[in-house]
Amino acid sequence: MKNTHHTLDVELFERWGSTYERSWMQQRLFDPVHLAVLHQAASRFKPARVLDIGCGSGRLLRKVHEYWPEAHLSGVDPAHKMLEVARRLTPEARFFMGSGEALPLENASVDLALSTISFHHWRDQAAGMREGARVLRPGGFFLLADFTLPTWFVWQFPRVHSAAQMRVRFEQAGLNVQAQPGPVARFVRITIGMKRADD
Ligand SMILES: C[S@@+](CC[C@H](N)C(=O)[O-])C[C@H]1O[C@@H](n2cnc3c(N)ncnc32)[C@H](O)[C@@H]1O
Repeated sequence: MKNTHHTLDVELFERWGSTYERSWMQQRLFDPVHLAVLHQAASRFKPARVLDIGCGSGRLLRKVHEYWPEAHLSGVDPAHKMLEVARRLTPEARFFMGSGEALPLENASVDLALSTISFHHWRDQAAGMREGARVLRPGGFFLLADFTLPTWFVWQFPRVHSAAQMRVRFEQAGLNVQAQPGPVARFVRITIGMKRADD
């Protein structure tokens, strides 16, 4: 099948897919971020349907399964090679080829949407936030963890946000910001939003 989501960022992950799980960055960056995100989510509620946007090799969803063995798990990613690994290592979840900007899921079909270290790769971040909010049920939570930089520095990195810019993104998408814990692994902040009932 032709991958219509290909960008330079996605090409990078197509190449990285086969060795991604063995990278030194797993222990130094991704695992601490995953654990912080799950800790924040678990202190709020117990979800029945969880989506990971930009799920990569499925590593976060495997941890989600340990937290909530009963939950129905889905992952979306545009990189075929990452999904190959995810499907092999994570039989508990179903995976879809797709992008954050066009999620292949129904409206209000998810209780908890997660996304870790992926947002700065999205081409249309406003559309991606709207999609995350669309697939959440009212009262559901979106926990997005990504690099954030101080406001005075972000102009150098067009797709990296400050904490304040991230709050605006959430609010514009119909998500009430509840908290922004962090930093985790020095530069990563978690923005936690709840889907408004009236959107
Ligand atoms: C650094 S990896 C992080 C993977 C995973 N979230 C984790 O924590 O291990 C970034 C992922 O974002 C995906 N990605 C790139 N562009 C995307 C987009 N527009 N929408 C969703 N995911 C995207 C990449 O394919 C890659 O798997």
